[in-house]
Amino acid sequence: MIPDNLYKQTAKYYDYDPRNIVKEDLAFYEMMAEKFKGPILELACGTGRVLLHLVAKGYQMTGVDRSEAMLEVLNEKLAKRSLEQQKRANIVQGSMTDFTFHSPFPLIVIPFRSFQILEEEKDQRSCLQSVYSALDDHGRFILHIFRPKGVLDESWVYPERVQWEVFNSKTNERVIKTDKGVSIDVTKQRLVAEQVYKVTKDDGSYFELPQHISLTYYYEEQIRELLESEGFIIEEIRNGFDMNNPNEGHEMVVICKKKLSYID
Ligand SMILES: C[S@@+](CC[C@H](N)C(=O)[O-])C[C@H]1O[C@@H](n2cnc3c(N)ncnc32)[C@H](O)[C@@H]1O
Repeated sequence: MIPDNLYKQTAKYYDYDPRNIVKEDLAFYEMMAEKFKGPILELACGTGRVLLHLVAKGYQMTGVDRSEAMLEVLNEKLAKRSLEQQKRANIVQGSMTDFTFHSPFPLIVIPFRSFQILEEEKDQRSCLQSVYSALDDHGRFILHIFRPKGVLDESWVYPERVQWEVFNSKTNERVIKTDKGVSIDVTKQRLVAEQVYKVTKDDGSYFELPQHISLTYYYEEQIRELLESEGFIIEEIRNGFDMNNPNEGHEMVVICKKKLSYID
């Protein structure tokens, strides 16, 4: 579980991230939305990077996230959208490990590795069970996690490095985000990284906002096993979001459907 105050200080800087990795998945989710239609459920929707993109494309979206600070940023952005878009968004503060909705969703997504935040197997399973119950019998569930490069060991640990750097002309802030691989537990398959936002204001003042992020990593056969044991059939695992080359990249984008005892 994430500590309740994670993202409290840093949520407002989340959308400053200029990297391709936070842009390249949008066309893919749009393609899947076109295929399976809405309403769509996004778990761990954060500041609405994916959710607001799909709302703008005309889809009815429900977003669930645990962090009040991340949802505050989302709601501020939503308030600037048209009334039609606002009506298409249903934002809920809650945990992806335990949720129920009355009507099933034809598409449920957990983008950008958020599932890997879940540490305990019981939480991972509880999340998948909730997804199973909320998914339409003919719908699809998309889970994006990263693909470990080979078998990870202590050599994964790395010194602080710059992840990205931007100057925001609206706020006149220069923000540098660094990350550092602090530790790895190869038994529990957990990685701990320290991320620091280094902010310089236009009056020259400077402050740092550090946060620790801990992620569970999965090898392909493990995530297959976990999903299958919770009743999913894996339709496809793409390596990334390149629309023409699903084998390009170092991600695992798992597309699954429900195993239905009366069909399969
Ligand atoms: C890396 S951000 C991803 C945000 C967004 N999906 C995106 O792709 O930009 C991870 C998000 O997971 C949320 N989160 C972490 N644990 C959660 C939980 N148990 N239930 C719901 N949201 C959770 C955090 O609050 C944060 O907003």
